[in-house]
Amino acid sequence: MTSISQPRGVERLVIGQPTSDGAGVKLTRVLTQDLQRRLDPFLMLDNFATDDPKDYGAGFPDHPHRGFETVTYMIAGRMRHRDSAGHEGLLQNGGVQWMTAGRGVIHSEMPEQEESRMEGFQLWLNLPGKTKMRDPWYRDIQSHDIPELTTPEGVQVRVIAGHSHDTPGAMQREDTEPLYLDLLFPATGAAFEQALPATHNAFVYVYRGALDVVGPGGQATTVPRQRMAVLANAGDGVQLRAAPAAPGAEPTRALLIAGRPLREPIAQYGPFVMNTRDELIQAVEDFQAGRLA
Ligand code: CO
Repeated sequence: MTSISQPRGVERLVIGQPTSDGAGVKLTRVLTQDLQRRLDPFLMLDNFATDDPKDYGAGFPDHPHRGFETVTYMIAGRMRHRDSAGHEGLLQNGGVQWMTAGRGVIHSEMPEQEESRMEGFQLWLNLPGKTKMRDPWYRDIQSHDIPELTTPEGVQVRVIAGHSHDTPGAMQREDTEPLYLDLLFPATGAAFEQALPATHNAFVYVYRGALDVVGPGGQATTVPRQRMAVLANAGDGVQLRAAPAAPGAEPTRALLIAGRPLREPIAQYGPFVMNTRDELIQAVEDFQAGRLA
């Protein structure tokens, strides 16, 4: 059974770059600055995954943002969020924090555990110029509030944003129409498909097992663990299939993320993402003058 007539192929595979951020939190930057144009409206994707408290202990103390949204998805562990707009929340297993920085917030994200595993993702989603200076906004989405569906093939789909197979996700965004799915494949060979407008830029990130992207003519490209596949735009959707992984490997899990590009100039200076250099200078001045808090 398929409703996709022209599946998208893989344009390229990307290996994340090990880096550290905040107060020395070790992470892998999967979507780096050089991919911002290609994957517009997405600006960054970080994956943190460690069993060693030394890798996350210092957390992300107070820091500013302006001009975009941060979407943090916790797979394991607990982080406490506090921001200058007065919001506070605990991010934990399976939950999502969606924060619209707008004209500016200063926030911290600190681990609330001293041992055991910390794993999750932070995605940066751009705002159009017309709403970059809107009021900050924030929502904690607990795990049980994220809509889920299970396909006839047994693939479990968590719909964080957008729509999948008639299930509306926890979040919708008008300007960029983001799709954010977390997919769990029960066994090798299990398949999943998702319709996607050709205008949407899209990528897949595999964080357990391995995944085939079945492209034009049925040709499969295998995406190993900890790789991002940038999907070609031509086509009307994506066809995925859990690939054989190493013996004893955990079932395949992957993020499928897509969005409508803004096609605006991107000017970034650290945690500020605006359209022009002048707006960046203004952001730094506002931050230094205490106008972001
Ligand atoms: Co932050």
